[in-house]
Amino acid sequence: MAIERTFSILKPDATRRNLTGAINAKIEGVGLRIVAQKRVHMTRAQAETFYAVHKERPFYGELVDQMSAEPVVVQVLEGENAIKAYRDIMGATNPEKADAGTIRKEYALSMGENSVHGSDAPETAAQEIAQWFSGNEIVG
Ligand code: CMP
Repeated sequence: MAIERTFSILKPDATRRNLTGAINAKIEGVGLRIVAQKRVHMTRAQAETFYAVHKERPFYGELVDQMSAEPVVVQVLEGENAIKAYRDIMGATNPEKADAGTIRKEYALSMGENSVHGSDAPETAAQEIAQWFSGNEIVG
């Protein structure tokens, strides 16, 4: 199996409720390694760039507002098939549809405030990591 990297955000609803450690325990519990991590307060422009792919969606404005309103924790996760492994432990975007034991089932408040983001493909993982981390900040 391939060792891969993925990009993760612990969203404002998670940092507000002091869930960084609990979510990191879930991440590490499935064998993913947190090889970079920092707490940032996104500017509106950074949130718009990050979610540009959703620009035409009806929830875009609210999403950008939420993501730039409070601090988040951005991370790089590394492990076997990290992109899928993280999405599996994250659970479905809509927490009502998330499987038992997943981060979103246990912690998400709603579709918008769904506690975590994870990259959906290798290309987006590379782009998202590059937006937030320089090479020497990632220590595998
Ligand atoms: P995320 O994985 O960060 O990617 C896009 C985000 O938009 C998603 O998680 C949700 O937080 C948010 N969102 C809000 N409404 C919707 C929706 N109807 N469909 C998908 N994503 C939504």
